[in-house]
Order: sequence, then C-alpha cells, then structure tokens
Amino acid sequence: SAATDYQAEDARISQGTVATNHTGYTGSGFVDYTNVKGSYVEFTVDAAFAGTASVALRYANGTATDRPMDLSVNGAVAAPAVSFPATADWNTWATKAVNVTLKAGTNTLRATATTDNGGPNLDRVSLGTPADTQAPTR
Ligand code: GCU
Repeated sequence: SAATDYQAEDARISQGTVATNHTGYTGSGFVDYTNVKGSYVEFTVDAAFAGTASVALRYANGTATDRPMDLSVNGAVAAPAVSFPATADWNTWATKAVNVTLKAGTNTLRATATTDNGGPNLDRVSLGTPADTQAPTR
C-alpha cells in the first residue's frame, strides 16, 4: 500500500526550528534540530490497523558525524539510537526506515536526538507497511 507522508515542519517541535536554507526538501521546509541532546520532533499519525509499520525518516546530515535519534512510539522507546549517518551535504537527503509496532488509530512517533549535536535536519516521515520501503522480491 502507498505510504502516507507527514511533514516535519507540521509536527510538534521541541528545541528545533523550521528552516528552508537548504535545497531538496519536500513540503514547505524542514526541521533544523537545535544542537542539543533531547531535542525532538513528534508526529501524530494514524494507523488503519494494529501491527508492524514502517517509519521512513527523510533526513540530511551535512557533517561527518552520525546524529543518532531514539524513535519512540506512544511514549516508549521503540528503536534506540537509530543511526543517521552523513549525507553528502545539507542539500542531500537520505531515508532511514525503521519498523515499529503501532496500535490501531492515533499514535505518536517521536524522534529524539541522543547526542549534544542534536538530530539531523528532518524533512518528513513516511508511514507505510514494511513492504513500502523494501525492494520488491519475486
Ligand atoms: C548548519 C546547517 C544547518 C544544520 C546545522 C547543524 O548550520 O546549515 O541546516 O542544522 O549545521 O549542525 O545541525
């Protein structure tokens, strides 16, 4: 099934700002995490049914240093210290996909920086089934 996109600039932002000073983002901008541990972006998402979902985070990291983030679902860490490694520059976006368990209906997804560098720049999350983010098999 097709993934549903949630723009970071429309999400709940703690210790970050909406920015447009790099190219290649979707929507009206992206979130520039403040360079501080604990900064986060929280998305409220809808799941049609309970079960495993793929959360694909589109990000840029123009530094040479990983910017890991905890991914929490409904207040509990579901994927600790997910790696957001360097992209070529701040205009180059990559996608990191993580499988999480959602309940049917409304869920919160929070991506929290775990180091003093803060998070990467975050463009959006795409919520789908795991098949949405895997290469087709036959
Ligand atoms: C630069 C860059 C920002 C980025 C920041 C960072 O200032 O222009 O987009 O967020 O570095 O290190 O997080």
